[in-house]
Amino acid sequence: MDKSILIIGACGQIGTELTLKLRENLGKNAVIASDISEGSEELMQSGPFEFINALDYNQIAAVIDKYAINEVYLMAAMLSATGEKFPAKAWELNMNSLFNVLNLAKEGKIKKVFWPSSIAVFGPTTPKENTPQQTVMAPTTVYGISKLAGERWCEYYFNKFGVDVRSVRYPGIISWKTSPGGGTTDYAIEIYHKALQDGNYDSFLNKDTKLPMMYMDDAIDATLKIMNAPAEQVKIRSSYNLAAISFTPKEIADEIKNFIPKFDISYHSDFRQSIADSWPSSIDDSQARKDWGWKHQFDLEKISDSMLKNLQIKYDAL
Ligand code: SER
Repeated sequence: MDKSILIIGACGQIGTELTLKLRENLGKNAVIASDISEGSEELMQSGPFEFINALDYNQIAAVIDKYAINEVYLMAAMLSATGEKFPAKAWELNMNSLFNVLNLAKEGKIKKVFWPSSIAVFGPTTPKENTPQQTVMAPTTVYGISKLAGERWCEYYFNKFGVDVRSVRYPGIISWKTSPGGGTTDYAIEIYHKALQDGNYDSFLNKDTKLPMMYMDDAIDATLKIMNAPAEQVKIRSSYNLAAISFTPKEIADEIKNFIPKFDISYHSDFRQSIADSWPSSIDDSQARKDWGWKHQFDLEKISDSMLKNLQIKYDAL
C-alpha cells in the first residue's frame, strides 16, 4: 500500500519542515498539509492543503476519507509558555486532538500515528543530568501535564487496541524557516535573529540555564527514522527520550561571538525561567539510539553556522 500522509498542524515550526521533507521524499501528492490557517508561501505552494481544526473529529475524518490517508502526524499543540497563560485551552487542544487521532486509528481508518511528546514531561523532582528514559515524572506546567497524559494514552491505545503510535520527547528545536510559537526554548532561536538584526540580545532565561536542544534537521531525521522503523524495533510506545546537545544562554552567546565578535547579551529572566528550571539539563537517549538507530549530526557550532547563514539570506531577501 502506498503511503498517504496527513500532517495536522503543518504550518507550525516543525510541521512546515516535516511536510516539505516528506514531500521531497514521497512526492507532493502523497502528503496532505493541514492547519487552522494558511502557512508560509513555500509550504502552501509545495502541495495539497486542507483547513483542519485538530479539535474537529469530523473534519479530520473527512480529509482522511478524501485522500485515503493511512498515516497521520499530529503536530498541532499549545507549547509551554502560552499554555501557562491559557491552561484550559492548552489542555483541550493537546488532549482532544490526540484522542481524535488515536480514535481514528482504533477505528481502523488510519494505520500509523506520529505524536510528539517533549522534555516538558519531566519536572523539578526528576534527575536533571542525563535524565533516564524511566524516571520520576511530575511535570509542573500544563503543557508537560498534557504531554505526560498523552504518553500514557498512546501506550494504552497500543496495548489495548494495537494502535501503531510512535513518539519522541523533543528537546528545544532550533530552526530558521518558520518561527516557533510560545515555547520556553524559543530564546535559542530569537538570539540568532537579534544577533543579525541588532547585534545584541536580552535573554529571558538566566545565563546558566542549561537545556537540551536540537537542530531542526536532526529533529526531522529522528521523526522519519522512528516512523520508518519496523514495528518490532519500536519497543517504547509511550515516548522515547531524544537528545542532541545541551547549552546555556551564555554558551550559545559565546558561540555566536565566534561568528559576530561584537555580539552582546544581557539577562532579564521572566516567568519562563521557572518553567526552564523545572526541566532537565541533559537527556539520556540511549534507548532510541539502540532500538532504531538514532544519531544526531548537529553540534552548537554547526547549528550556529547554519542559522546565521540562512537567516542572513532571509533578511537580505526582504
Ligand atoms: N520547545 C518546547 C517549549 O519550550 C518544549 O517542548 O515549550
